[in-house]
Amino acid sequence: TKRVFSGIQPSGGLTLGNYLGAVKRFVEMQAEDYETIYCMVDLHAITVPQEPKKLAHNTRELCAFFIASGIDPEKSILFNQSQVPEHTQLGWIFNCVARMGWMNRMTQFKDKAGKNRENASVGLFSYPALMAADILLYHATHVPVGDDQKQHLELTRDVAAKFNHDFGVEFFPITEPVIQGPATRVMSFRDGSKKMSKSDPSDMSRINMTDDADMIAQKIRKARTDPDALPSEQKGLEGRAEAANLVNIYAALSDQSVDQVLSDVGGKQFSEFKPMLADLAVEKLAPIADEMSRLMQDTHEIDAILARGAERARGVAAPILKRTYEIVGMVGA
Ligand code: TYM
Repeated sequence: TKRVFSGIQPSGGLTLGNYLGAVKRFVEMQAEDYETIYCMVDLHAITVPQEPKKLAHNTRELCAFFIASGIDPEKSILFNQSQVPEHTQLGWIFNCVARMGWMNRMTQFKDKAGKNRENASVGLFSYPALMAADILLYHATHVPVGDDQKQHLELTRDVAAKFNHDFGVEFFPITEPVIQGPATRVMSFRDGSKKMSKSDPSDMSRINMTDDADMIAQKIRKARTDPDALPSEQKGLEGRAEAANLVNIYAALSDQSVDQVLSDVGGKQFSEFKPMLADLAVEKLAPIADEMSRLMQDTHEIDAILARGAERARGVAAPILKRTYEIVGMVGA
């Protein structure tokens, strides 16, 4: 079987990058020939400080985002990481498989820890071992993510290979990263060399999944561009990061390739293209925001969905953890 696993941190501030780089792809894979498992990774979120009430709110809001975007909790297993304790258990084993040297190379740790590395949590350092556990606990074969997760997925493959080698088994699969489509790296609207991110101080740099129609249109109108007209072929976007970003977003939102989009809009000025993009973005995103806020009115319903999802996830995870414990030599497994 082909099994998909992916996760998103409930650390608040979901952006268009999370939607186009991740959730929109999750929905597409749910419709294909895969078993799909999607997770709110609250244990990863707490590797940096989280206010407890906000963490709970953000976890429920993330669940609402998944559902509003088209994840069907009947078709996919949709759950919250801390409700399936096997993640922590396998995560510990992988802390003992992964090497310090591997972790030291992780660029995300360096970015997130910043200059004051002595003060970063140990959890932030070993974050990728828990991520490997998330994926391998389900023997997932495919992991759809945005481009920024590539290095973590390589580490996941290394963990699987080292475990298999050290214990002389063919137990964990070597997972395929799925980093595909025109929007694997959605960039800031203020600076085309930076990733669109919730941590950017400027709210104008990003579209939040909770923005209303006016806000979405305003941010696109004000997005930084260059003075040239749009090219009619993709190679005409080279060296034009801001222009390329808006075209990529248009392509992703309209389910077309970049070349298809450019064959229609090539030659147009941004003064004409931006309103087209704004209309498309409002048409696709505003209904998601509306549905999210509707779902958030009944948190009991959301909690029931998460409880059911955790139960189903444990059904898959528990036997794999048990077998792992046996392989490692734990008595009573
Ligand atoms: P997180 O929560 O930072 O982001 C969730 C997903 O959104 C993608 N993404 C983007 N894609 C394109 N352009 C952007 N600007 C952009 N910003 C975010 C991310 O690539 C990601 O796919 N470590 C993971 C969470 C995780 C996970 C896992 C993922 C934990 N366990 C197991 C896959 C499998 C993270 O921090 O994603």
